This record gives sequence, C-alpha cells and structure tokens, in this order.
Amino acid sequence: MKERMLITGSNPLEGEVRVSGGKNTAVAVIPAVLLSDEPCTIENLPDIEDVRALVDILRSLGAKVTYVPGEFMTIDPRPAEGFQIGYRDSQRLRASYYLLGALLGRCGHAEVYFPGGCEIGARPIDQHLKGFNALGVETETHGGKITAMAKELTGSDVFFDVVTVGGTINVMLAAAKAKGTTIIYNAAKEPHIVDLANFLNSMGAKVKGAGTDVIRIRGQQYLHGANYAVIPDQIETGTLMIAAAATRGDVVIHGCIPQHMEALTAKLLEMGVKVSDSDDAIRVRTLGAHRAVNIKTQVYPGFPTDLQQPMSALLTTARGTSIIQETIFEQRLKHLNEIARMGARVRIMDSMAIIEGVPQLYGAPVTCTDLRAGAALVVAGLMAKGVTEIYQPEYIDRGYEQIESKLRSLGADIRREVVE
Ligand code: EPU
Repeated sequence: MKERMLITGSNPLEGEVRVSGGKNTAVAVIPAVLLSDEPCTIENLPDIEDVRALVDILRSLGAKVTYVPGEFMTIDPRPAEGFQIGYRDSQRLRASYYLLGALLGRCGHAEVYFPGGCEIGARPIDQHLKGFNALGVETETHGGKITAMAKELTGSDVFFDVVTVGGTINVMLAAAKAKGTTIIYNAAKEPHIVDLANFLNSMGAKVKGAGTDVIRIRGQQYLHGANYAVIPDQIETGTLMIAAAATRGDVVIHGCIPQHMEALTAKLLEMGVKVSDSDDAIRVRTLGAHRAVNIKTQVYPGFPTDLQQPMSALLTTARGTSIIQETIFEQRLKHLNEIARMGARVRIMDSMAIIEGVPQLYGAPVTCTDLRAGAALVVAGLMAKGVTEIYQPEYIDRGYEQIESKLRSLGADIRREVVE
C-alpha cells in the first residue's frame, strides 16, 4: 500500500511535546540482550519500524519476546539457538549488523547478510570485521553474506582507522563476553555508545571509558538480567527543534538531554533563534529573521550528520549564503535537490552544498530518499506556502515515532493518505 504525506505549511508550531526513546540506542540495546544469560526488560523504546524488525529477528532466532509498544519489551534470550539472519531480515535495517557482535558474544558464530538501511554513501564495514578479527574471529564474505566464527573470543587491542559508531558498538558487543580485556582506540563517543555501555554494565559487564575515544571492556562469562530504559532520541529532539525554528514557532520539547544537543543549539543561536533549556527540556522560539550559517558534519560532539539534512532545509530560507560540508556520508545531500523543487536555491558539488537563502518555499510534490531526507522534507513542508506532497514517507517511519500526531499536537496541518 503506497502512501503520501500531505503538509499545508506556514503554521507556526506552538506548544509542548515529548521526545521518544533513541532509535540508534534501541537498535544496539535490543541485540545486546542476546549476550545476557537471563531475561531483560527494556523501556522507553521508540515504536518505530527498526524496532519492530529487530523483534521479528530475535523471535526468528528463538528468543521469547514480549513487546508492549510504548511500555516495555521483555526478551528472554535463553531459548535462542539460531545464529543465522536471512537476507530479507538483514536488509530491513542497517543495525542488523549488530547481530554479528551479539551472536559472536553469545555463541561464537553469526551469519548475517550485508545490511540495508539508508543509501547515503558507501557505508563499508571493514572496520567492524577488522575489530572482530583482532578478537580471534574468522570472517568470510560470500554471496553478500558475512560469516563470522570464533573458537574462543579473546580480548585484544582494536585500533579503528576511522571513527565508526557501528564498528565501536559491534566490537563492544563481542568483547563483553570475550576472554580477557579489549581496548578500543579511536572509539566513537556518541551518546548511544555511552548508553549501550551503561546497559551492558547493568547486566554485569565491565565497560569503562565509553564517551571517550578509548573504551576498555573486560569480558565476562555470565551476564545477568537487567531492567533498562534507553536515553531519549537526540536526533528526534533536534528535528523538533529545527521544525520549531523553521515555522517561527515556540515549542518546549520535554524528556530530552540538552547536553546532547549542544552542537545544534550553538548553530541555532548563531542563526538568531532563541534556545533555552532546563534539566530535561528545551524551548525553541524565533522572533526575528534567520541568518545563514555554515555547517560541517563531524563525529560527536561535533554537528551530527543525522541533523545536517533537516538543518539544511531550515537554511534554505535563512538570510545570506550557507555552506554545508558533509564529511561523514558523501551522498547525504540528495534531499536538497527535492527541496529545490520547492523554490530553494542550492548548488551541490560532491559532498558540499551552497544554499542561498530565499524568502519563501512553496509546496510541491517531493520524494524521500532516506530517513533524515524525509525529516528534511517535513521541515521544508512545514515552512512552505501551500501543500507539500511527500512520497515514500515510510522512510520516515523507520526512525520517528508518530511524527504526524506529534506535529499535529503542535498545530501543524499534516496528514497521510493512501495513493491510488
Ligand atoms: N566507515 C568505514 N568503515 C567501517 C565503518 C564505517 O569506512 O567499517 C565509515 C563510513 O563510511 C562513514 C564513517 O565511517 O563515512 C562513519 O560511519 P559509522 O560507522 O559511524 O556509521 P554507522 O554506524 O553506519 C550510525 C548511525 C547513523 C549515523 C552514523 C553517524 C545507526 C544504526 N546508524 O551509522 O544513523 O548517521 O552512525 O553518526 O546507529 C540515521 O539514524 O539516520 C543514521 C543513518
């Protein structure tokens, strides 16, 4: 069933909204339960397509999963005897590759096809495999399938050539049950790395240094059950902040972690947006005109690539010229070609975009090419005069829980309909 999203723009977003649990944490924590020798209960999971895909995958491995969306997920990994993820399941989400690290830790054997997920660049996994190899894992790729096997996982030093979120998480998963100590150098520092470490430690793992670029993991034979709530979604928080600014609204976002938002907050302030925060809430409002700013995506705590797309939508109507440099994923500017259909003035050269602010965007039919491109098109639609039709909105469902109803509660005119 094909759908499209319809947005009649120009309504200022006003009111209060609560952010959901973090997608990129959830997709690491759920596979991590396979490392446990007892059942675990996870709370604050976002009810999104990626989470539903992982439930199906864990069940296909034999785990017993009770999922009450919006409340909790209890996973009993003890009956899970499987170690193979089929092609279709592997393709359902990028994070299916975390089953490699989790199954290696659990039983020393994993077979997973190359993952799906957003097409935003080459996205190799050589560093994941290099990390596994350092732990004594033999890996083979054939016919699009990765087979990873270890007689015994042995802790070791892992030096990443590039800072990789996925590679760091995968090695942490395998190392949690390896014999001896693993030290990851040049590790990623994103909030979800820290959250995964906290979850592993709540099961009795010994992970130290998460949030810095050196992480030490002392492997444990037995991990016990745990109850854990994942952190709020940093990227959903940022998308809502940008949407509030884009519509010249006044929105309070509750249940977020303001420290995780510092790179975005700094840029919004530079643009002339008013941002204030308290313990777990951020208020965003716009009074005057927005100024153009330059964005260079970087690993945490730099400006996140996942917010570059919605942010660049906002910049299409800022006064002056903004330069976007996408340094993480080379093909993550395709959304700007779509927003150009709405009147944006954009030049794209390789992984750089030059945006000359225009006074107004106008509604047009546009198509999502990936998750955050979808978020960017929603921001553009909320800003535009007239009706924006967004095709392939299912990309957005992979990472945003109830985006329409959240935006509607703030006054947006947004709905979805089936396309004939
Ligand atoms: N890279 C390699 N070799 C590897 C792994 C990565 O060269 O083995 C390169 C990538 O090509 C890229 C850079 O290293 O240029 C960073 O990639 P990273 O591994 O950090 O990204 P990822 O794990 O594939 C996760 C998130 C992405 C987010 C990035 C960066 C998940 C499931 N995905 O991807 O989230 O953009 O980190 O923060 O956690 C999204 O939520 O929309 C999304 C794409």
